[in-house]
Amino acid sequence: MEAYRKVIVYYFSGTGNSRNVASWVKQVAHEMDLESQLFNIAQIDRHSIEPPDPESLLVFVSPVHGFNYPPIMLHFIMRFPNGKNKVVLMNTRAGMLIGKFITPGLTGIAFFLSASILFLKGFSLKAILPVDMPSNWISIHPGLNDCTVKYLHEKNKQRVTVFAQKILSGKYYFRALLEIYDILLAPIALGYYFIGRFFFAKSFYASRNCNNCGICVNACPVKAIIKVDERPFWTFNCESCMKCMGSCPEKAIETGHGFIIAYSLVFSLIILAAFYKYFGLYFFPIENEWVKMVLESALFLILLTLWYRIIHWLMRFKIVERIIVLTSFTNYKWWGKRYRALKPDSDFEVNRRSMK
Ligand SMILES: Cc1cc2nc3c(=O)[nH]c(=O)nc-3n(C[C@H](O)[C@H](O)[C@H](O)COP(=O)(O)O)c2cc1C
Ligand code: SF4
Ligand code: SF4
Repeated sequence: MEAYRKVIVYYFSGTGNSRNVASWVKQVAHEMDLESQLFNIAQIDRHSIEPPDPESLLVFVSPVHGFNYPPIMLHFIMRFPNGKNKVVLMNTRAGMLIGKFITPGLTGIAFFLSASILFLKGFSLKAILPVDMPSNWISIHPGLNDCTVKYLHEKNKQRVTVFAQKILSGKYYFRALLEIYDILLAPIALGYYFIGRFFFAKSFYASRNCNNCGICVNACPVKAIIKVDERPFWTFNCESCMKCMGSCPEKAIETGHGFIIAYSLVFSLIILAAFYKYFGLYFFPIENEWVKMVLESALFLILLTLWYRIIHWLMRFKIVERIIVLTSFTNYKWWGKRYRALKPDSDFEVNRRSMK
């Protein structure tokens, strides 16, 4: 007897890793003659999600951002209608390669938080699997080389296929619970959710290579890029999924390391000192560390908005544009390529020789 009548896969993906994992699961369902559906949640109206067929297995796939699922997936799960289906949680995270060893990424609270929300909605967890796909976060580290990307792609395709065969035939799979120590990353995950993601949203800009084609604006899954002064402008909606960087045909989108470092230095060395002096002088000294943290974070983000807008305006001057571009690591060849996942059905001979 079949374990499930149908499999429904909900995924979010910036650069294609999670889309690949979702389609590998669907492929296995197809080979097992199971009805299956694949939904990109960026294309679903998250305010009116259709309740799923009660007999189907639900699979959620998303990258990990800042030791948690990104807000788009978290909010989707929060708004998901109640039900009694069995669910499978999968994430893709930052895999790297040392020799033949795939170093695992860090899931943080992604599984713990979403499993708890789904449990409260009546669902029961059937399996969890983190998948160490090539890291796409080239804002903070150089891009991986082609051989590493191919190797990780192929190894994970095999792993996800075996996993999908198990869970679609009704088995449980909870080995990832061994990584329960990841929960210790909760404070950083919360910091990323409330502050970090807004900081990274304001790290992108378009250089003078931009020809205003609008491809990035349309490619963004959360419509976070708008045009200001006829040039792309990143709003706080940005989830730093990295899709726009890989979509720009002119390679005009950069991470502005220079202006972000300059802002952080000016803020922590000058603005904060001035703020406390003024506050202590005219109001009262702030003693409580929590109140301090909230105030400092709010001030940091408010002034970042202003700073980003000023830089955006100043970039019309060639000298400013050049300084910003030349202090962005992503502008340099040695930093590596923009990341875009391989097509889900790409096959490679994975052995040491193909790595050379
Ligand atoms: C903003 C951002 C934050 C990330 N945070 C984490 C993280 O906390 N842990 C991790 O293992 N990988 C992290 N990564 C790596 C991605 O989760 C990983 O490359 C994922 O496979 C990308 O999936 P996608 O191509 O479907 O967007 C992060 C990537 C980005 C862009
Ligand atoms: S895709 Fe590139 S060239 Fe086109 S508008 Fe965006 S940044 Fe400019
Ligand atoms: S602006 Fe770029 S990085 Fe941000 S969510 Fe949109 S596509 Fe992703």
